[in-house]
Formats: sequence, C-alpha cells, structure tokens
Amino acid sequence: MFETKEGILEYLEIEGRRELKGTIEISGAKNSALPNMAATILTEEPVILENIPELLDVQIMIKLLEHIGFSIEELSKGKFLFKQNELNCLDAPYELVSKMRASILVLGPLVARFGYAKVSLPGGCAIGTRPIDLHLKALEKMGASISLEHGYIVAKATKGLKGAEINFEKITVTGTENILMAATLADGITVINNAAREPEVVDLARMLKKMGAKIEGEGTNRIVIQGVKKLNGANHKIIPDRIEAGTFTVLSALFNGNIKLKNYPFQYLDYVHKKLEEIGIYVIPIGNDEVIIRREDTLKPVNIETKEYPFFPTDLQAQFMTLLSIVDGISTITENIFENRFMHVQELERLGANIKVIGKTAFIKGVKELTGAEVQATDLRASAAMVLAGLIAEGKTRIYNIYHLDRGYENIDDKLRKIGAVLKRDFEYIEG
Ligand code: EPZ
Repeated sequence: MFETKEGILEYLEIEGRRELKGTIEISGAKNSALPNMAATILTEEPVILENIPELLDVQIMIKLLEHIGFSIEELSKGKFLFKQNELNCLDAPYELVSKMRASILVLGPLVARFGYAKVSLPGGCAIGTRPIDLHLKALEKMGASISLEHGYIVAKATKGLKGAEINFEKITVTGTENILMAATLADGITVINNAAREPEVVDLARMLKKMGAKIEGEGTNRIVIQGVKKLNGANHKIIPDRIEAGTFTVLSALFNGNIKLKNYPFQYLDYVHKKLEEIGIYVIPIGNDEVIIRREDTLKPVNIETKEYPFFPTDLQAQFMTLLSIVDGISTITENIFENRFMHVQELERLGANIKVIGKTAFIKGVKELTGAEVQATDLRASAAMVLAGLIAEGKTRIYNIYHLDRGYENIDDKLRKIGAVLKRDFEYIEG
C-alpha cells in the first residue's frame, strides 16, 4: 500500500479542470546534471556547473560528493562551484545510493582518478531490477578488479585503468557515461561500441572536453576516447531537460495549447514531435527557444514503442498514456526498456481510464473523461503522469508517495500554480 513515514502520509491534492494558461520555463536536465556533477571528481581543480535544477536527486549527489571530500557552493540559483577538499573516503554509502541509483555514476570517476572505489550496489527500484553488470564488466576489461563485499562493489586499479575496446551487449545510458568518464584518464585508447546516444551523454562529453579530455563520436553508437594524464577545471552549462519539456508539451496539449514553453530543447525531441503530429498536436518554435503548442479538435489514437535515443523515450511513456487515455479509439504503448514500467496503469484506471496490459504492451481505449480519486506515484515519471491526470480529471485527485515527483521536476507546484493550477500538499496522520 502507500509508504508511510512515522504514520504520516504526504500527498499532493489537485483540483481538476481549472483553466490553465501562461508560460512554463524548462529547467536544466536532471540526467545531465548528475553525470556532470560526478565528473567533477576527475580533477583537483575547481569546476563550475550552471543550470543545475533544484531537485532531491541533485541534493543527494551533492551530499555524496561532500561525503567523498568535495566542497560545493551555490554561487547563484543553479550555479555551483565544486572544489576538492581533503578526500575523506572513496566510497558511496548505502544510505545515499539506495535513495538515488544514479550515485553509481561516481564509480567510474573514482576508479579512474584514485584507483579505488567502494560503491553500494544500488539495488532494484520500482521499474525494474536495474542491474549494473555491464558497467562492471566494462571496468574489468579496463583492468579494474571488481569484488562484491557485503553489498558493496569494491573496484581497484592500483596501476590505473587501461584503454580497451568495450562492446556493450545492451545500450546503457549511465553505463556509457561511467566508462566515458573512466576512459578520459585511462592509459591508451578506449572504444565504446553500442554506446548510448542520448543528448545527456553528449552534454557530458562536451563538459569533459572542456576539461581537456580527448573524445570523438559522442552522440553516435561508437565513442573513441584517448586517455590523458590529468584533467583541468571547467565551466559548463547543463542542457535543458527534454523529459520535463515533453511532459509540459503534453500538459499544454491537454489545455488547448494555452501554455507556452521557454528554454525548450526542440532539437532533442524530433521523434516525440513526430508522434505528437500523428496524434494531432503540433509544437511550433516562435524564436529564442520558445514554443507554442497547437492541436486538432479531435485527437487520433497512435501506437508507441519505447526505444533508446533518438527514438521514443521510456521516460515519456507514462505521460503519453495519460494523454491517450482520453483520446477516442485504441492506442498502444509498448515498453521495451524496463520490465516493470506500467505501474501507473492501475493508478490511471482508478481515475477511470480503460487500459489493458498484455505482455509489454498496454492497450489504451480512450474514455470521455477522467474523474478524480486517490492514487499513488509509483516512479519518477509516473508521478508526472498522475499530475497531468489530476489536472484534467473532474473533481479532486490526491497523489501519495509524492517524493518521487520532487526527485525529477524542479518546483513543479510553483510552475503549475503560476499558470492557474489549484494544488496543495498536506499530510494524513495514520492512527497507531
Ligand atoms: C538512465 O537510466 C536514466 N537515468 C533513466 O531515467 C532512463 O529511464 C534510462 O536511462 C533509459 O533511458 C539517468 O540517466 C540518471 P540504462 P540507466 O542503463 O542508465 C539494462 C528518470 O526518470 N541494463 O540505460 O540506469 C537496464 O536494466 C530515469 O530520470 C542492464 O541490463 O538505464 C534497462 O533494462 C528513470 N545492465 C536497460 O539496460 C546494466 O549494467 C537500459 O538501462 C545496465 C543496464
């Protein structure tokens, strides 16, 4: 049932069907900020990162870097200075890693720079077992010795890492990022085949090159890195969050395009725009990274398959399911990346959606409207899908386990209130 905290249940209550209108600014990309913050481990010199979003996951990564021995100072909103202090311990403890699996991103940099890392195994999460076997096999191929001790990965490379040819049998975003960072200080050349092509991988490569790394092929499925002796400090601005952008594009379409978006990373959403056009929704650039959304009166059902970039992102699957739940006809969404990323289906059904899951495919039969209910957020992106549903449902919707939302959407309450949403956070006390 719902997770409780000392008998307290926090929830976000949304009043549906309000007139939403105005402008939303897209924040910096969480999944670029996290690897870029981990990359600051690779140099003893100061690094400045800008456009870092204010998220729970970012706070956890800051705690982790401070635990390792870095001082982090917020110079202004979203602008952080990372400086190495005396290094306390080259490890990532369970209490931090269990809150945020992306902590695994410190593994590559720690081994590459210090020849040692002790990182808690992340453990599974709601959307799947999320193994990291490919990260570990690749580091072994670069000369690290990997052992598992009481739930911790201990990686050693006392003589440093060596360049190697890495063939990922599956495309892995953080796996590619871990090896990309490790290879910058390895001795010799590393080739990553079947590399992830996500914009966040490219943004990390850009930052590493500013630090003096020698990298080619980022954004393709073959990345070549020539190791160097040391990396320097740098100043880098994180790219906008394409998943937040896609989420708010769906929101705007649900409210007749009355919401304009700023800092919109248009170039990272080509395939999503194609799918939206099939549905009858158009994203129209109007200059300096702003877009307006237009739509047909009657939207059309579609078939969506999640795949690695540049195809349809799994991180937008739940949000599109909310949209398609009120589009007349039968749409399908097939989830190919994670084995258990349909937990929002039964939550949407509580709001009146008509969805059947067979194997990896959800069959969504559009209904006329959703009606408010109590639901729970099951993972970071599903929580956004619940917010979208609550905003269009008739009546009130209460979303529990709301901390998922704060992990990935910067100040979402304020952003929504600014365009007219009526929502509040409150607590329910569970009698002992
Ligand atoms: C990244 O996770 C993102 N997180 C996820 O975003 C995103 O959903 C995912 O990529 C897919 O795009 C960050 O970038 C911090 P993977 P990651 O390794 O790297 C399997 C969000 O909402 N696999 O690309 O952990 C894995 O089980 C989050 O912001 C192995 O089998 O995902 C999955 O089925 C959720 N062995 C597939 O590969 C491994 O060693 C893709 O996973 C690694 C992965």
